[in-house]
Amino acid sequence: MSISPVLAGLATYPFVRLDEARARLRTAGVELLDFGTGEPREETPEFIRRALVDAVTPMSTYPSAAGLPELREAIASWISRRFGAVVDPGHVIPTLGSKEAIYGLANVLDGDFVAVPTPSYPVYERGALFAGKRVVELPLREENGWLPDLSGLDWDRCALLWLNYPNNPTGATAPLEFYEGAAELARRHDFVLASDEAYSEIYFGEPPASALQVADRTNVLAFNTLSKRSSMPGYRSGFVAGDPALIAALRRYRPNVGVAPQELIQRAAIAAWSDEAHVGEVRERYRAKRDAMLEALPLRNAGGDASFFLWFEGDDAFAERLLESGVIVAPGSFFGSPGYFRLALVPPLETCVRAASIIRVQSGVQAGPAA
Ligand SMILES: Cc1ncc(COP(=O)(O)O)c(C=O)c1O
Repeated sequence: MSISPVLAGLATYPFVRLDEARARLRTAGVELLDFGTGEPREETPEFIRRALVDAVTPMSTYPSAAGLPELREAIASWISRRFGAVVDPGHVIPTLGSKEAIYGLANVLDGDFVAVPTPSYPVYERGALFAGKRVVELPLREENGWLPDLSGLDWDRCALLWLNYPNNPTGATAPLEFYEGAAELARRHDFVLASDEAYSEIYFGEPPASALQVADRTNVLAFNTLSKRSSMPGYRSGFVAGDPALIAALRRYRPNVGVAPQELIQRAAIAAWSDEAHVGEVRERYRAKRDAMLEALPLRNAGGDASFFLWFEGDDAFAERLLESGVIVAPGSFFGSPGYFRLALVPPLETCVRAASIIRVQSGVQAGPAA
């Protein structure tokens, strides 16, 4: 038996190293204040949980890969309300969370390479490798506002360009003009512009733009999810929307893979996409944590003003010191960006305040009132 060389060649997912450190520190009796992984730990709103329960029926049939028409309508209406972009419900596919859809996209496309920003969510690269594509890294730098430089690549050989704004890990956002430029490039060289917008609803300045707002959506797809917006990571519910020709290709591909979302979850998703009040509340809770941290910490926030991540200047040795004192953060080297570390504002406010005191001590500032 021999396993796939792609699988055999993959480095250990860097976050596994945090799991090992957590286990070690717990055994040593250290209390963990965990800002390491970006998994929301807010309660899913009650009305969404009720919609799920109400959707349980005596008969359980296979869901269709295309998704419920009512959910596609609810998502298209949300896109229109939120971004002012008109998308036909037929050009929306509900997905099983957004990760599987992001991972699978490279399988649907011809072309030599996939362009992936660094730092970034690792699934763009892994999906490309398993689809047999070459990965070309596009460095994101602070001096460019964490936007990639799109000049100088042989775009004619490109299958797919990934963008992710609001950005994980930096929290940066992209203006609509940037999406317009990237979409124009994608049309000119006939590659796909895929925009991962998982954090579009967690913002503290102007509401971020979507790639769905570009004037011509030829070759453009956007991915979004309820995991962050509606605190539903366990439900596994997202969508992909955009260019009708690409959506048609995904409709042919997806039934082969077994990723049709469960109908119960789709019913809960209709409730979630149809309500904005709970999203405002989620945003305010993250805002309180963000404000408390930014006010208390003597560190430079090098990132933007969206997502629930703070992206601080600080080397791996500093992240390691925090780890040993029980404050778990993700070092920038996990994302290919040493010199920074990421703090996911997922624990409760009270934990953020306590962690801020510890971080102040570790950075050489006297412990005092944290916020
Ligand atoms: C940038 C980014 N995109 C997509 C996802 C996937 O989210 P989900 O599969 O829960 O929709 C995540 C999850 O952490 C993420 O950080």
